[in-house]
Amino acid sequence: MSPVSPHTRITGTGSYLPERRLSNADLVRLLAGRGVETSDDWIVERTGIRARHFAADDQNTSDLAAAAAHHALEAAGRRPEDIDLLIVATSTPDMVFPSTACIVQHKLGMAGGAAFDVQAVCTGFVYALSVADTMIRGGLAARALVIGAEIFSRILDFNDRTTCVLFGDGAGAVVLEASQTAGILAAELHADGRHTGILCVPGGVAGGKVVGHPFLRMDGQAVFRLAVGMIDSVSRAVLAKAGRNEEDIDWLIPHQANIRIMQSAARKLKVGNDRVVVTVDEHGNTSAASIPLALDVAIRQGRVRPGDTVLLQGVGGGFTWGAVLLDL
Ligand code: ACO
Repeated sequence: MSPVSPHTRITGTGSYLPERRLSNADLVRLLAGRGVETSDDWIVERTGIRARHFAADDQNTSDLAAAAAHHALEAAGRRPEDIDLLIVATSTPDMVFPSTACIVQHKLGMAGGAAFDVQAVCTGFVYALSVADTMIRGGLAARALVIGAEIFSRILDFNDRTTCVLFGDGAGAVVLEASQTAGILAAELHADGRHTGILCVPGGVAGGKVVGHPFLRMDGQAVFRLAVGMIDSVSRAVLAKAGRNEEDIDWLIPHQANIRIMQSAARKLKVGNDRVVVTVDEHGNTSAASIPLALDVAIRQGRVRPGDTVLLQGVGGGFTWGAVLLDL
């Protein structure tokens, strides 16, 4: 049992993108080979996506997660044995079980600390960060690795142009540590299972076979309508909980699903587009990996700096949504 600490702080970030990058033009060619028609113009105009990365056949989600974790540990000046809690947010685990977190733990050469997965689809990282924060403040751990990692390319139906152009693979990670000064200021998490059907992979394994439909299905317009309102209300709730205002937000890091949803969220909070971290153009939607990937990219570019107040907004399948407000 670790001593109870009043606060937690992010002390390092890292990320990893698979080598294989597909521009929209590459994807248009690939899909044309299957008789599926799309265009760079359609994808850019509706989503803001210009490219995405796809994992190699011999890579698993745990490989992407471990690579991101190495970078985060390096940035935090920590070694794997310093970590006593490892959470992986993913909807594309290596196996049914054990958890991807246990596999990552082994790949990092760690043993003995708690390790488990969080499944909240695109809100997964926000959920996982909140759980780690609570566990550290409760004395269950002192230093956590919180990772979002996905290989969505394996659950995409490349005959369905309405979904397969939207997603990509990648991983992002943070080291979260007990601290005497406040880093994580407040968190809000929500879910509403009535909306399961509008974004799901309605399949599984049973009796040695895949049962149901093992590919992503989405009602894009229903998702869009719900996401915009939920993101706005949860952002206001987390600001109120932390005793802060819209003007206190230095950087908005929304889930990177679609530039139009992100810009609408920023407009409602009166955050200028120059204060919104955007990586969806180069990464596509990497689900639970999108927020930690965007955070790491912005920190390494020197845009998001120590002391900045950052609002993380998550929304996705379940339906799930949540937000974390933090001082870096
Ligand atoms: N290429 C070309 N044409 C396409 C494509 C494509 N890839 N996909 C759909 N179309 C066509 C449709 O067939 C339709 O044609 P029609 O008018 O002849 O029937 C037309 O484009 C319009 O289709 P809509 O589905 O109405 O397009 P919409 O403007 O709603 O955009 C989109 C679709 C981008 C998915 C939008 O609904 C959206 O952004 N939704 C939010 C969902 C989202 O971002 N999901 C990510 C996962 S969820 C999350 O992470 C929160």
